[in-house]
Amino acid sequence: MFSILTVTTAAYLVAALLFVLALAGLSRHETARDGAFFGMVGMTAALAATVALTVDAGISSTNVAVMIAAVLVGAAIGLQRSRVVQMTGMPELIALLHSFVGLAAVLVGWTSFLLVEHDAGAVEALRLDAEGTLGVHHAEVVIGVFIGAVTFTGSVVAYLKLAARIKTAPLDLPGKNVLNVGALLAFVMVTIWFCVDPSTRLLVLVTAVALALGWHLVASIGGGDMPVVVSMLNSYSGWAAAASGFLLENDLLVVTGALVGSSGAYLSYIMCTAMNRSFLSVIAGGFGAEVRAGSDGDHGQHTETTADQVADRLSSASRVVITPGYGMAVAQAQYAVAELTARLRDRGVDVRFGIHPVAGRLPGHMNVLLAEAKVPYDIVLELDEINDDFSVTDVVLVIGANDTVNPAAAEDPSSPIAGMPVLQVWNAGEVVVFKRSMAAGYAGVQNPLFFRENSRMLFGDAKERVGEIAAALGSDVRQKETR
Ligand code: TAP
Repeated sequence: MFSILTVTTAAYLVAALLFVLALAGLSRHETARDGAFFGMVGMTAALAATVALTVDAGISSTNVAVMIAAVLVGAAIGLQRSRVVQMTGMPELIALLHSFVGLAAVLVGWTSFLLVEHDAGAVEALRLDAEGTLGVHHAEVVIGVFIGAVTFTGSVVAYLKLAARIKTAPLDLPGKNVLNVGALLAFVMVTIWFCVDPSTRLLVLVTAVALALGWHLVASIGGGDMPVVVSMLNSYSGWAAAASGFLLENDLLVVTGALVGSSGAYLSYIMCTAMNRSFLSVIAGGFGAEVRAGSDGDHGQHTETTADQVADRLSSASRVVITPGYGMAVAQAQYAVAELTARLRDRGVDVRFGIHPVAGRLPGHMNVLLAEAKVPYDIVLELDEINDDFSVTDVVLVIGANDTVNPAAAEDPSSPIAGMPVLQVWNAGEVVVFKRSMAAGYAGVQNPLFFRENSRMLFGDAKERVGEIAAALGSDVRQKETR
């Protein structure tokens, strides 16, 4: 018969492969469901193997009961949260989950340290009695606690910003770069000191510095750069998990943490490139970046329009581009948008979508919503694929987008979003902006697009307004058919 160790090692290997397949699957729409399924099967195998290993290690039946109860309570809360969460609330939920990974890494590090400090038998049991091994263990403790604590407070601040519970504007403490670099240098010195002469006081110091650093790093990053922060925290949470894996001597945790850490880092890099931001500056809490005020001056008058007028204009258009944003998600307007698209296409209008890489609140947010409403993939284009075509477009419908179509990013070097590539909708013949008020977008920056001569504001809930336009176009078709 196989020993429990052989079976669990095999289960870990299978789980690691399933996690790799999950990441590969999640990278494309068509295979995303399979990817999620592989991930779930992998996690089930990993959990079962871990519980089996722990039980086999001979822990008391009370501890087994506590562990199973914790798994069940955690699973119930997780299931409930994921059932009720709206797509728009997903980034906050992700940020909150990252904070748990960080907190877990801090607790694992502290437990491991206290165990070795206060239980003489633990050094032998954990095979830390060989020369130099204890020092490596202390380094693992201090690194795990540091990364975990940075991830914990950083994720809490990201959650608060994404849930609009605190201001999204970047905190600009005097000498913020010196503070960040100073905290990192202090960490390096304390790590060396801790490896030579470990003490509870030093670990408290590391924990406190890391908690403050995590808070400051994310608080210093402005609203427009939050997408990068979320994927960066995803990466940090992976490295925190990998550090815990070393402490717990759990190979799967090391592999999984490394997968999450490196894929999160790569995603952050891709997003920084898409947003023309320096990767190093963003991960270092806006290192070197100045907080820019932007010009909120008088942009002139805006012009309002009605759903009927927009329907009229669309009925004579031959090329239409729709650029959706966060407001489409809030209004759940994707089905109405799909209906409007179908009606326009039935009339022979060339309708395409322009998707900004950070439109909405999570990567691929708009693509997921449009796919859910069965908008054909082939008319949904990326920013680079559509930007040159606005000049030959008759009408652009900006549905709940704001920062991602803000000309200030391209034209005002003092704007906080200066340099971020945007959809250049203002080059089209006419631009119709669907929103409820003149309020600024997520980055809190006024949008000069609304005041351009070729822009028309269509106020109200996007789902209602798009529905009205689709209905007007539909009845128009019916009138023509019955004539
Ligand atoms: P935003 O700049 O967030 O603007 C959304 C607009 O939708 C608002 O101006 C709002 O105006 C309007 N709106 C809200 N509810 C609406 C409704 N029911 N009907 C009609 N309009 C509605 O959108 P965006 O252009 O998609 O830009 C995304 C922003 O979020 C960027 O700054 C990006 O950096 C940031 N962000 C993105 C991510 C990712 S990964 N995508 C993650 C975090 C942050 P009213 O209030 O006047 O209606």
